[in-house]
Amino acid sequence: MKRYALITGASAGIGEEFAQQLAKKGWNLVLIARREEKLKELSQQLGRDFGIDIRIYTADLSDQSIPVKLFNYCQDKELDVAMLVNNAGYGVPGDFEKNNWKTHNDSLQVMLNSLVELCHLFYPQMLTNKYGRIINVASLAGFAPPTAGHTLYGATKSFVIRFSHSLHLEGKGKGIHVTALCPGFTYTEFHDANGTRKMVSKLPKFMWMSSKDVVSQGIDAVEKNKPFKVNGKINRVIAALSSAMPDWIARGLFAGKANKYRKR
Ligand SMILES: NC(=O)c1ccc[n+]([C@@H]2O[C@H](COP(=O)([O-])OP(=O)(O)OC[C@H]3O[C@@H](n4cnc5c(N)ncnc54)[C@H](OP(=O)(O)O)[C@@H]3O)[C@@H](O)[C@H]2O)c1
Repeated sequence: MKRYALITGASAGIGEEFAQQLAKKGWNLVLIARREEKLKELSQQLGRDFGIDIRIYTADLSDQSIPVKLFNYCQDKELDVAMLVNNAGYGVPGDFEKNNWKTHNDSLQVMLNSLVELCHLFYPQMLTNKYGRIINVASLAGFAPPTAGHTLYGATKSFVIRFSHSLHLEGKGKGIHVTALCPGFTYTEFHDANGTRKMVSKLPKFMWMSSKDVVSQGIDAVEKNKPFKVNGKINRVIAALSSAMPDWIARGLFAGKANKYRKR
């Protein structure tokens, strides 16, 4: 069986950059997203440039049947998924009650349930092979204090960080490395997709990172078996202060600032 890295949300941003950097390192790829054309273009370019094998799997991860179907697809094609990059995600702007339940439920399915289920499906094979790499893309928001609006996003990412840390501990000594990657503001389609581009473009340039840096640091972190990686010095300071400060101070400091950049 040939080794593959499976990347969700590979049609844009951080996921697409994972595809580029892992292809360069010689990984064969399974790429997942909804936009088939984007995946096809990417797959052609990567095949041409790096001569690797690439499978594209067009799917909407808000459909709860997808993780098992995707796993069965990899089994049928005898693809040994030795690296799993759970990256697909997006923000749901606005106050909690202003979005209907399907919108919230879909976001939980994409960023939480499917992420956990994919780990659960692919982990046993990694255990058998005594080799596995799992990168779960969380966010600085998972460390930062809660804010009003985008209600489920930070909570979901906190879950991803803690879940990944537990799995990281379980994988120790078994050849399985698990890392939660926690970027701050990163130049991708993320803020176009959730309609907050205008607001976040007011943020100073030093707050932003390229997906290239975020991804190379993520790959380095999983190789070193770090339980989590917060990208960028400023973001690391924010994460450390958020954890070290008494909750009431952190919440007070953060909530006011964050409101300026959140769509209500
Ligand atoms: N950019 C930031 O500032 C930032 C900061 C912290 C964390 N993050 C996290 O980084 C991850 C990647 O985001 P990004 O910044 O690269 O955003 P992006 O450029 O908008 O890319 C998001 C990716 O997720 C895929 N996706 C979204 N909904 C999906 C669904 N229902 N089913 C399957 N795929 C879906 C999209 O593909 P299709 O549209 O083709 O389906 C796309 O490939 C997310 O988990 C996000 O929370 C981003």
